[in-house]
Amino acid sequence: MKMMEKNDAERAKKHFFAAQQTYYDEPLTLVGGDGTHVRDSAGTEYLDAFAGICTNTLGYGDTEVAQAVAQQAKELIHVSTLYLTEPMLDLAEKIADIAPDGLTKSFFSNSGSEANEVATLIARTSSPTKSVDLLALDHAYHGRTAYTVALAGQSQWRNFATQMPHVAFVPNPYCYRCPFGQKPESCGIECAKYAKHVIESQTDGHPAAMIAETVSGVGGIVTPPDDYFKVLKETLAPYGTLLIADEVQAGWGRLGDGWFGMVSSYGVVPDIITSAKGLASGFPIGITITRPELADTFKGPHINTFGGNPVATRAARVTIDVIEKRDLIANCKQQGEKMMAGMRDLATKYDAIGEVRGKGLMIGVELVHDRKTKAVAPDYATKMLEEMRKHNVLIGKGGRYGNVLRIQPPFIFDDGDVREFLEAFKGSIATLR
Ligand SMILES: Cc1ncc(COP(=O)(O)O)c(C=O)c1O
Repeated sequence: MKMMEKNDAERAKKHFFAAQQTYYDEPLTLVGGDGTHVRDSAGTEYLDAFAGICTNTLGYGDTEVAQAVAQQAKELIHVSTLYLTEPMLDLAEKIADIAPDGLTKSFFSNSGSEANEVATLIARTSSPTKSVDLLALDHAYHGRTAYTVALAGQSQWRNFATQMPHVAFVPNPYCYRCPFGQKPESCGIECAKYAKHVIESQTDGHPAAMIAETVSGVGGIVTPPDDYFKVLKETLAPYGTLLIADEVQAGWGRLGDGWFGMVSSYGVVPDIITSAKGLASGFPIGITITRPELADTFKGPHINTFGGNPVATRAARVTIDVIEKRDLIANCKQQGEKMMAGMRDLATKYDAIGEVRGKGLMIGVELVHDRKTKAVAPDYATKMLEEMRKHNVLIGKGGRYGNVLRIQPPFIFDDGDVREFLEAFKGSIATLR
């Protein structure tokens, strides 16, 4: 361990809350980056395949974002949502252009948690029965505010204030460990249909909304079968239950088919979309997007001091423009397929790889001690993070059992990055035996 990092670890221990999670036995202090690579305080470079938790869409040091941000910071850094600003208006108009038909209104905040709180408030105020009930998925993760903690479907993330809203949980479409013991090719999407039973037995019969990540991120890159959201939406419709797509991780093209994964990868238009993370390529931003008739039931007054911040909304607009200009959604698809193919190839040799799954650049690798019993291997996941670090590559981990590697790099990953990643992965996975 470098001297500098040792000091930083001690400083953090002294002044940060113990609850703050950092990766690695010896935490990493990062000081700069360029493109897909980030640099630590000792000058070591790492290929970043986790992008600041699925956030640095354009990687590090993108000149268009940097210039727009510098310019905007000189002109106007902050005024609050009490005033209108051109960057906020411009971004809202652009998002209305690229969002599915009818979703033309946005509310800006600063994070995914806030975006989800606004979505559930809209659902509750627009509910004809004023239901306070909500549905969420097992294994779900929707943020760390008290309210969104209650929407978490993983015990390790339900560690406080979970009694606030009434939330009933629907089985997750986790095909690798199907809760119904079925196979995706013949299951009839029973897990989505089961929402009927949950509504009728565990709610007031008309839950205001169901919130679902299009692909569960923290839950372990659980990638639903193709018809999942169609069947889910049909199941919810008779109860007047709205569908909220949490695209905090899956939005803006990461899944490789279009701007919003539930729409372009699954063919379903949700009632409300929430997002954050990658929208402003690293600047704090949250957004809740919906149809005017739903947005307008939410009368307020509602305010967010930093919501729609001019610098963050400028960064977001430039991020969207660069994604378009450089065809980065297609790049997510192409590079994601190459990475998954490379790791599936390695799975023929290494039994620790239970499954490689994902869409675009949202990829999960589930690690097991035994392929037959699928015994979970969280120890392997921890070791893989450390080994990949030794190979100068950063990845993440998650999953209900902590045994899924999360690979969610910047959209600008190129062929060289994919080769570098796979080389490091090969060297690291070989150490698990
Ligand atoms: C799917 C999803 N929703 C919401 C959130 C919360 O976002 P934030 O940490 O910006 O509050 C996260 C964060 O990881 C997330 O993955």
